[in-house]
Amino acid sequence: MKRLSSVCLKEENRWPASLASMMPALGGRLTELWKEGDISAKRGRIAVIHPFLPTGAKRLYFVGLGKKEELTFARLREAFGKLFRTLKQAKRMKASVALDTFTAGDVDGNEAAHALAEAYHLATYEFPGYKQKKSEPDYQLESLIVYTEAEAAEIEASLFVGSVYGKATNSARTLVNTPGNLLTASDLADYAVKLADRYDFDYEILEKEDMERLGMGALLAVNQGSKQPPKLIVLKYQGKDEWKDVIALVGKGVTFDTGGYCLKPRDGMVDMKTDMAGAAAVLGAMEAIGELRPEQNVLAVIPATDNMISGEAFKPDDVITSLSGKTIEVKNTDAEGRLILADAVTYAKQHGASYIIDVATLTGGVIVALGTDKTGAMTNNEALFEQLLEASMETGEFIWRLPITENDRERVRSSKIADLNNSPGREGHAIMGGAFIGEFVEDTPWVHLDIAGTAATKKDGDLGPAGATGVMVRTLTAFVERFE
Ligand code: BES
Ligand code: ZN
Ligand code: ZN
Repeated sequence: MKRLSSVCLKEENRWPASLASMMPALGGRLTELWKEGDISAKRGRIAVIHPFLPTGAKRLYFVGLGKKEELTFARLREAFGKLFRTLKQAKRMKASVALDTFTAGDVDGNEAAHALAEAYHLATYEFPGYKQKKSEPDYQLESLIVYTEAEAAEIEASLFVGSVYGKATNSARTLVNTPGNLLTASDLADYAVKLADRYDFDYEILEKEDMERLGMGALLAVNQGSKQPPKLIVLKYQGKDEWKDVIALVGKGVTFDTGGYCLKPRDGMVDMKTDMAGAAAVLGAMEAIGELRPEQNVLAVIPATDNMISGEAFKPDDVITSLSGKTIEVKNTDAEGRLILADAVTYAKQHGASYIIDVATLTGGVIVALGTDKTGAMTNNEALFEQLLEASMETGEFIWRLPITENDRERVRSSKIADLNNSPGREGHAIMGGAFIGEFVEDTPWVHLDIAGTAATKKDGDLGPAGATGVMVRTLTAFVERFE
């Protein structure tokens, strides 16, 4: 992907110079075309006009933004997404954008610049895939010239932030789109180490022997049936003088979920390569944090394994002992995410986490409850949740809260022979997942994000193709950046 730092800014021109010089020759034709409906301000409408002049731009793209007072950052970003998709389809390699013409309503020049750069990366994203013959080379603009009347340095900074958000989201998308045989827990750990080297993070990869020594019985149980060793991936970004007020980002890294002995039916198993989307969201956010270097301390913890069957795999009715010491009766081997997260959360607490945000493709139940456009959230701390909600409203990644009541907590404690039951029944499915993780979080302020519905999409959109969405990369990043 092209870095947008090569963007060129011309402060003095409201319109691209070439367009301004074309105006007299166009002789009011643009207004005519607008009146006759060829150019429309309707939201999402794109019109291409060919001026047929010997000099100046060959094509003018007009992007409809709807009512001025109704324009928001998200709508502008979507419109830019549509524009870039159009440019990509037509294989246009150079573009000039008159940014000031887009600034209206709620949106200022800096936000417009952010939206532009983010939309470019999101909308033109493509998973490379593995075909021997690739039909088309990757689309990448050769130049994007931005015209603005605003302070050039500020606009450039916003373009940079937008491109970081977009690119980090795309990195997560690629991880999630990668099949399970090509992205094992070890591959995920290698990826994280490279990220750590690039951004100078401290890191630690716990091996199976380390987990045995420490007593991570829950993560080990899920891994028991696999030939692939488990990894606990830990990255540390220190943006403050002292290692305090640490935000832990914990991401479910199940590289493939067969369900284990509670085997998924075929239709439910296909696409379970996406079961590490929580891990991808955390790694994507760490990439953005590495670029933007906020004054925060962030601890990323990713438990990584697949969930397989074999003569050695864990079984229903097994009782395991987690890192926290709490014992768990396994009632369903397909409720594996909460098991590996239990140990990861405990590990995060042991390493200074003051706040915990976990992100996981945890339950089919959240899809039934909220659909595929809202991430389910659960919390034990209103103030922390509010901050996360605000970040999600900025990025346009919807989250909606579900409650955890005392009754729910009693249900996850309902095992007769162990402290906890990993699957106390189908009622309030998504909540059971959250409540289970909450048992390990205890009093640490925490938000649980269930992205089972939002991590992947079946539909192409203006801000990306079908497949992984990279959901929560931007929300986690915005949350960390603004956290107080
Ligand atoms: N990885 C799945 C959840 C999932 C479902 C993610 C659909 C993405 C799309 C998770 O491990 C799982 O299997 N959950 C079970 C929990 C149940 C056994 C308590 C589920 O949701 O059915
Ligand atoms: Zn499962
Ligand atoms: Zn799973």
